[in-house]
Amino acid sequence: MKNIQIAIDGPSGAGKSTMAKMIAKELGILYLDTGAMYRAVALKAIRSGIDTKDSSALAEMVKGIDLQIVYEDGIQKVILDGTDVTEDIRTPAVTVGSSDVAVNSAVREKMVELQREIAEKSSVIMDGRDIGTHVLPNADVKIFLTASIEDRTKRRYEELKEKGTLKQTFEELKKEMEYRDKNDSSRTHSPLKKADDAILLDTTGFSVEESAKTILDIIKSRL
Ligand code: DC
Repeated sequence: MKNIQIAIDGPSGAGKSTMAKMIAKELGILYLDTGAMYRAVALKAIRSGIDTKDSSALAEMVKGIDLQIVYEDGIQKVILDGTDVTEDIRTPAVTVGSSDVAVNSAVREKMVELQREIAEKSSVIMDGRDIGTHVLPNADVKIFLTASIEDRTKRRYEELKEKGTLKQTFEELKKEMEYRDKNDSSRTHSPLKKADDAILLDTTGFSVEESAKTILDIIKSRL
């Protein structure tokens, strides 16, 4: 049987990972959070004393990166140079750095290669910024998920507070999101963009349940 491919793209805080995890569970397929991979590259750069905007140093660094995505009880773990960095990639510095390293063509090419390898082996739902436009152009379903900047900041703020990892004020978090929105959308190499054949879903004002129901209905009607 052919592998299923579902692409969810959109700006930071739109709820992509919450939705993708839920859909993966419902359909019994793999969830790949591609943002975690760019975060791991940023973490490695920061730990190695490399500026996350230094394109030649990044290109050199990424050539030899040992980045593995593994699953434990269905939960994605990010293994960098043999160490589990799943938690370490969620700090504010890594978050901003991930958007900076994602501008780099050599970094993107390497990440896309790894992402396609995973999609070749099993049915997958991937979330990111360029999945529908570049990584999986023939995906069975493509969704571009968005919401207002206020709603996205509010959701991310509550999520971090709940996890006990909130380190910024609401305004700081909003500024970080605006920085990433601009950076991710304006880069030359596969910027954040809705694929022509993606379904646009604006969940401003939606509860998690309303978003989940809407997305599942769309996906089920198209598979
Ligand atoms: O989804 P996230 O917030 O964890 O992603 C972190 C950064 O990685 C994001 O600001 C841009 C980049 N990214 C990307 O360029 N392409 C992807 N497919 C996923 C993430």
